[in-house]
Amino acid sequence: MLCNFAGFNHSVSVLVNPVNILAVESSCDETSAAVLQDGRVLSNIIATQKVHEQYGGVVPELASRAHLQQIVPVVDQALRQSGLDGGQITAVAFTQAPGLIGSLLVGAGFAKSLAQAWSVPLIAVNHMQAHVLAHWIEEPLPAFPFLCLTVSGGHTQLVRCKAPLDMQVIGTTLDDAAGEAFDKIAKMLELPYPGGPMIDRYAQSGNPDAFHFPVPEIKDFDFSFSGVKTSVLYFLQKMKNREPDFILQHKNDICASVQKNIVHILIKKLEKAAMATGIRHIGIAGGVSANSALRHALTLLGQQHNWPTYLPRFEYCTDNAAMIGMVAHYKYQQQQFASLDIVPAARTAW
Ligand code: KG4
Ligand code: ZN
Repeated sequence: MLCNFAGFNHSVSVLVNPVNILAVESSCDETSAAVLQDGRVLSNIIATQKVHEQYGGVVPELASRAHLQQIVPVVDQALRQSGLDGGQITAVAFTQAPGLIGSLLVGAGFAKSLAQAWSVPLIAVNHMQAHVLAHWIEEPLPAFPFLCLTVSGGHTQLVRCKAPLDMQVIGTTLDDAAGEAFDKIAKMLELPYPGGPMIDRYAQSGNPDAFHFPVPEIKDFDFSFSGVKTSVLYFLQKMKNREPDFILQHKNDICASVQKNIVHILIKKLEKAAMATGIRHIGIAGGVSANSALRHALTLLGQQHNWPTYLPRFEYCTDNAAMIGMVAHYKYQQQQFASLDIVPAARTAW
């Protein structure tokens, strides 16, 4: 690659080697590997574990085992698709936290071994920071300051970003995450795991105003979804007593109404935070940002206030290693490397 150096009497061009990062993600039930060259995604392979469907949720022990089975073929495929071989990799990145500890250990151990075998630096990445930086994978890139609503199966966060690695969580959920609420309500509706995408699908042909659920009053920029979940549970119990086939008969309308409620809670908080912070570039990230109603609501919010809005492509909303590689790309620039005795953590203060 050609690189121009300013600051000389005349600019000189020299040849510098590209930075090729191999990134591994294994925090939950997706085994993923990606190769990035100078921040550009060359490959992004994602193997979703199907074994959990029959249990209605992720079984940690089974997730770790599935990562062990998948990690070699997934990394192999990512390398092959990138057109590079191991000897051309400049650094190895992995998800260090947060996540299921057994799952994180598989990715961490594998990444460490590769880094040592190839004698390249190891880069530890925070999964939630990576969801935000998924916005930097493709144009249009958000401008700073940027406000991101990160909604996943385990987290709901409002994040203020001043620079790629300078982020602050200004709001979070006091109980369930938005994705967890989707998944648990889907389970009540006898939909398979993960329920979020199923609710989205059924809601397409439902009436979002058919049923009404409460909107919690939570201070500042925090969230709560346990009340919504409980009110749906009691509502369904009451209606099933009256009409045993209630769920079957009204599945689309229930899904559309639940989805409208959760999206409303999320979008109102995002709007409140944007108003309070004065940040105009806003976006959503994480698995729930794949939700069609949430994506539509974000676009409308932007149009209403004339704020630029950002939506990652579906592939980069749910868990993927490309976003881990994106954080690693910026950490590499700052030479933020991890030592080989680093251990993963199920939770982080971030
Ligand atoms: O970010 P992610 O892939 O994994 C975690 O880091 O948790 O998010 C997974 C969550 C699950 O709760 C899933 O139900 C939800 O994202 N999700 C959706 C949709 N697609 C994925 N929720 C609502 N609508 C969707 N279309
Ligand atoms: Zn995630």
